[in-house]
Amino acid sequence: MSAGYDVERWAAVHALPTYHRAAAGARTAPCGTPEHPLPLIIDSDPGLDDALAIGLAAASLEFKLLAVTTVGGNADVARCTENALRLLHAYGRDDVPVAEGAAGALLGSIVRATEVHGESGIGTTELPPAVNTARPEGAVALIARLLAESPEPVAIAPIGPLTNIALVLRQYPHLISKISHLCLMGGSIGEGNYSVSAEFNIAADPEAADVVFRSGVPITMIGLDVTHQALLDRAAAQALRGLGTRSGVIAAELTDYALDRNLEWSGSTTTAIHDAVAIAHLMVGDLVAVAPYYVAVDTTQGPARGRTVCDGLPYRLRRDGRTANADVGIVIDGGRFEQLLLDAFAKLP
Ligand code: BDR
Ligand code: CA
Repeated sequence: MSAGYDVERWAAVHALPTYHRAAAGARTAPCGTPEHPLPLIIDSDPGLDDALAIGLAAASLEFKLLAVTTVGGNADVARCTENALRLLHAYGRDDVPVAEGAAGALLGSIVRATEVHGESGIGTTELPPAVNTARPEGAVALIARLLAESPEPVAIAPIGPLTNIALVLRQYPHLISKISHLCLMGGSIGEGNYSVSAEFNIAADPEAADVVFRSGVPITMIGLDVTHQALLDRAAAQALRGLGTRSGVIAAELTDYALDRNLEWSGSTTTAIHDAVAIAHLMVGDLVAVAPYYVAVDTTQGPARGRTVCDGLPYRLRRDGRTANADVGIVIDGGRFEQLLLDAFAKLP
């Protein structure tokens, strides 16, 4: 089943073995509706693409956005927290609480991506001051409280390093059953971006990612394999700017900044908006075709540190006594993704 995507073309481009193509099918992540919105917590390190992802969730009636929690990643955690507060204010969502989480990885290392996102994390975009401040209880305690208080299981979209989520899983094992799903942006079947092996969010805290992938919580992994199929260009940035909303202008500035960096480094005229893909996938029923994989995280100190080793070959899994622990994104309808972003930013202030 290919869910209507051109799986063959994509698989040829990425030289995926045939069993990846055969397995690509419909998603299994939960999906909200305006009548019954999906309770959602976003754990984020805003971040250019995080900022667009938060906008998408802020605008969408399919979500009941319970909180945005922050983690150090693209920029220092204090900057990420300030960005989250200001973004939610700009998007008209001061009702959504923000709490600050881990500054660095479980083992103490600190990895930043300021060369991509700028020192501020959001390029050169200036946002009006927020009216709220971060909740004093902190990200991990806030996530735990929201899980405990929610009458129904809650989806979490981790779109930064997985440190806070690993801490929740470790410190509150009795609440794991209250997590309906983790739809995370991170990892890659193929090449990484932080290193040849590792994607940034996993590279920033491989031990945390290891805890998450071993947790037994249903996971959808939106990795570079799909985010690099949903690229925005200058015309898309112009379309966001042309929406006539202040939020559309913010989204356009952030996209332009990302486009400038990509052009400077690789000569590319497009950019991936990685984190927004994870949110868009949770929003609609059939944006990304996924396949079941056993994902192991390399936590060695060698050149593959942070790699998500994705095994989807059924006979090998049977032989080794393994079962899939994640649905991994294989193919995305990039045009539809762009339209979802435009529709969302048209609705925001
Ligand atoms: C991921 O790394 C970060 O720089 C982005 O915000 C995204 O979450 C992409 O590799
Ligand atoms: Ca991010």
